[in-house]
Amino acid sequence: MASRISAWPLIQTLILVTFASISPQLADARAFFVFGDSLVDNGNNNYLITSARADSPPYGIDYPTHRPTGRFSNGLNIPDIISEQLGMEPTMPYLSPFLKGDKLLVGANFASAGVGILNDTGIQFLNIIRIGKQIEYFQQYQTRVAGQIGPDQTRVLVNQALVLITLGGNDFVNNYYLVPFSARSRQFSLPDYVRFLISEYRKVLTKLYDLGARRVLVTGTGPLGCVPAELAQRSRGGECAVELMRAAALFNPQLTEMISSVNSEIGADVFVAANTYTMHMDFVSNPQAYGFITSKIACCGQGPYNGIGLCTPLSNLCPNRDLYAFWDPFHPSERANRIIVQQILTGDNKYMKPMNLSTILAVDSRT
Ligand SMILES: *[C@@H]1O[C@H](CO)[C@@H](O)[C@H](O)[C@H]1NC(C)=O
Ligand SMILES: *[C@@H]1O[C@H](CO)[C@@H](O)[C@H](O)[C@H]1NC(C)=O
Repeated sequence: MASRISAWPLIQTLILVTFASISPQLADARAFFVFGDSLVDNGNNNYLITSARADSPPYGIDYPTHRPTGRFSNGLNIPDIISEQLGMEPTMPYLSPFLKGDKLLVGANFASAGVGILNDTGIQFLNIIRIGKQIEYFQQYQTRVAGQIGPDQTRVLVNQALVLITLGGNDFVNNYYLVPFSARSRQFSLPDYVRFLISEYRKVLTKLYDLGARRVLVTGTGPLGCVPAELAQRSRGGECAVELMRAAALFNPQLTEMISSVNSEIGADVFVAANTYTMHMDFVSNPQAYGFITSKIACCGQGPYNGIGLCTPLSNLCPNRDLYAFWDPFHPSERANRIIVQQILTGDNKYMKPMNLSTILAVDSRT
């Protein structure tokens, strides 16, 4: 009895010593960094002069505040749901003036609606944060954090962080296929364009690795021809638009292949391919099985499939967003995003290569 009681102070001392050796902020959570386009932008474009924005109603109608935030969703988007699943605060837009102090240690969201792999993608949106600039901001972020916790702790924070990058869709929709006879489509056949995109994307991923990223989820494109906007503009009788489906069918497998090649070059599973094409296709081809009444008609929009123009206060708006796979002409609803994140977390090899996020979390907690 007496010996059991006398052991307590020792155990308490051990616990204190263990925790004192790591910064308290780093002990409880892993940081999360997000790069890419509107599928993952948490509101950076609110701070820019651009037409690619989601800062007016009814965007955000199902967000906890019920107000628009700049997310292209009725509620949460994919990074928000990943943060939620990991028990973290949502990532704040890097351009937000409120992202400072301890908040920086949660991570940051550098994504900007309208961008692609290429610099000339999304030029019609004017002022957006192209991927090169997002990466420059990531460097700037590290300098700022180093000023707070020192360069060594900053390196640890970045090395241990989870990273998400979503790019590629706009390089087709807002570049190659933006107008008939676009500059890129006159320069490249589709297969050559895809090869060019993949080689440029490889440079982007390598740069993230050079800057310290060690666990990076890389999503492919969805079935680009099946979104309500394309059904309205390009489809015959509601079938997914053929050319954009061809683009996605070329791009996604080559992305997976490139990721595996980068990993073998590095000698570690740094990059993880998320097959968002198949994740989307599951509920696009059988919406009822996933509790949706439709995967063709957007909840918010106008014209055929609610797929024409933007989602604005004047658009048609469905009463129950959970019944629609697409929130607006291009972007999934929160419910669809939840289905996607569930597959990212627990999907098998058909969805996640070489492993899913639960496996990543389990492996990383052991090292
Ligand atoms: C994109 O623009 C950046 C900044 O202007 C430049 O450094 C980079 O080389 C460009 N990338 C390509 C592929 O042209
Ligand atoms: C994905 O996660 C589940 C656990 O939720 C696990 O059983 C499964 O083996 C994992 N699959 C792969 C390919 O890592």
